[in-house]
Amino acid sequence: MFGVLAVGHHGGMNETLRHYHELSKHHPQRMAPGPGRLDWVNQPDPFRHYEGAPRVELPLLAGELPPAFDDLFRPGAVAARPFTLDNLAHLLELTLGLADWKSFRGNRWALRCNPSSGNLHPTEGYLITAGVTGLDAGVYHYQPHDHCLERRAAAPLSWQEGVLVALTGIHWREAWKYGMRAFRYCQHDCGHAQAALAYGAAALGWPARLLDQWGDESIAALTGVDRTADFPPGDHETPEALLWIGAGHPPAMDEVLGALAGVPWQGRANGLSRDHREWRDIPAVAAATGKPPGHAVATAPWPVLPPLPAVSSHPVSHLVRRRRSAQAFDGVSGIDAAAFFRMVDALMPRPLPPWSLSPAAPRVHPVFFVHRVAGLEPGVYCLVRDAGAPDALREALATDWHWSAVAGCPAHLPLFLLGPGDTRGFAATASCQQDIAADSAFSLAMLADMEALDQQPWLYRRRFWEAGLMGQVLYLEAEAAGVQGTGIGCYFDDVVHEALGVDTRRYQDLYHFTVGGAVVDARLESEPPYAHLQRRLVGDASAAPGAGHHGAD
Ligand SMILES: Cc1cc2nc3c(=O)[nH]c(=O)nc-3n(C[C@H](O)[C@H](O)[C@H](O)COP(=O)(O)O)c2cc1C
Repeated sequence: MFGVLAVGHHGGMNETLRHYHELSKHHPQRMAPGPGRLDWVNQPDPFRHYEGAPRVELPLLAGELPPAFDDLFRPGAVAARPFTLDNLAHLLELTLGLADWKSFRGNRWALRCNPSSGNLHPTEGYLITAGVTGLDAGVYHYQPHDHCLERRAAAPLSWQEGVLVALTGIHWREAWKYGMRAFRYCQHDCGHAQAALAYGAAALGWPARLLDQWGDESIAALTGVDRTADFPPGDHETPEALLWIGAGHPPAMDEVLGALAGVPWQGRANGLSRDHREWRDIPAVAAATGKPPGHAVATAPWPVLPPLPAVSSHPVSHLVRRRRSAQAFDGVSGIDAAAFFRMVDALMPRPLPPWSLSPAAPRVHPVFFVHRVAGLEPGVYCLVRDAGAPDALREALATDWHWSAVAGCPAHLPLFLLGPGDTRGFAATASCQQDIAADSAFSLAMLADMEALDQQPWLYRRRFWEAGLMGQVLYLEAEAAGVQGTGIGCYFDDVVHEALGVDTRRYQDLYHFTVGGAVVDARLESEPPYAHLQRRLVGDASAAPGAGHHGAD
């Protein structure tokens, strides 16, 4: 049932990218270079803090915020909250904050609202504020364990109705376990975190957008991660994304950097591990994909689509804190076609969270392996997310796929049946022999358009971010529908390319995901995320935990 062999090699990437991308591929007979045995003595600390920086303890959300998940997709349904310290604290808690503690046989680990490959959490968050009641203007690092802000610099910044949120990545945290492939995972995690912020902001009534004009150097200066002396060797951070959250106008870059010039910085970053193993290709690909200032992504008009059908009246805050990666699926439960079409719909670009982060033309397309969707034939399906170039993907896949209409599919969804069949075995094999890709309702591979990356290598990261955004959409959509999802970073790239007959000069498989009925591991014990900080609860009396809400649970 699968197509012919891939044609040629990714022509869209320059030499450094091509080299890294090939080297970081997993193959059935040869995994990407990794550390081999895990060096437990040097396991990186998952929590960064700045010793000596003044701390601002943040209040914790007691109960839930009132907006329901469905409200996020009804423009105007959520009234904007004022920019107060409490509301910013809720934003951080519901996006980058802790969601759970698990323990098993003497090991105890924290889980967060944003997912992360291997739960290693390479992504750090910074808040740059002005005009927030109760908070001096300046640059802050968010420390999720203690739910506090660490003030790196106070600065004469001035604007209203918004906040800058910067994301950086600590490659070493990820490379410690995943070696060469780590750079990819850091980018995925950054995409997930951006989407988490877009959903979290929307729950507070705030729009969020990615600020494309800023280059890496300016984001590094803004967050202070360019202050080499403040970081132990090997534990430095790399600038990634900058978001503006709020209805106001984002401040001009020169104005912000001007206000920061010459201000004193406080705090020194903690050491994450005593020793580090170098993965030289990672700094090389990071440098090669650095974002220059002023370049923006190609944009596309939003497609005109009907409103998303309702899926959950649970509070957003409930779903984001409950979101977990399934460790196993039961191999029995499925979802119905309407639930599947809703998830597919949510992947379409719309001026709604998280896609409202950027009007970038969609460049990543899911190929679904449908196993257990009632009313849908098992088989391979493809969603062409880019209305502007509907034929490009079709022309880049094997010619013998059917591309037939999907019975019962809403007319506005460009979803096609490529071929019917039982793909459970293939899906598991292609995802590094992981059963989670087969025992679910469906799994998917995300094919990314790599064209133009030789002229704009920084777009390489954007492709992973877009795949990460899609992953976060599916995580929350799965929770909303009463099932669960899991991101899959471990897959055999070229096995998928060959099976689908992908012209790899144009497209590459960048991420997998799976959604279905999870098996809960009853051996794991759970504890509330912030039992250690209970004194800081602030009520939202209108919504006691779980009160008055119904839906998928
Ligand atoms: C980019 C990415 C790749 C992942 N890859 C895998 C994978 O290959 N296999 C797997 O079982 N889980 C995978 N996961 C799930 C993580 O292990 C999970 O997010 C992490 O343990 C934290 O748990 P949580 O999602 O419940 O917060 C991945 C998650 C992300 C974000």
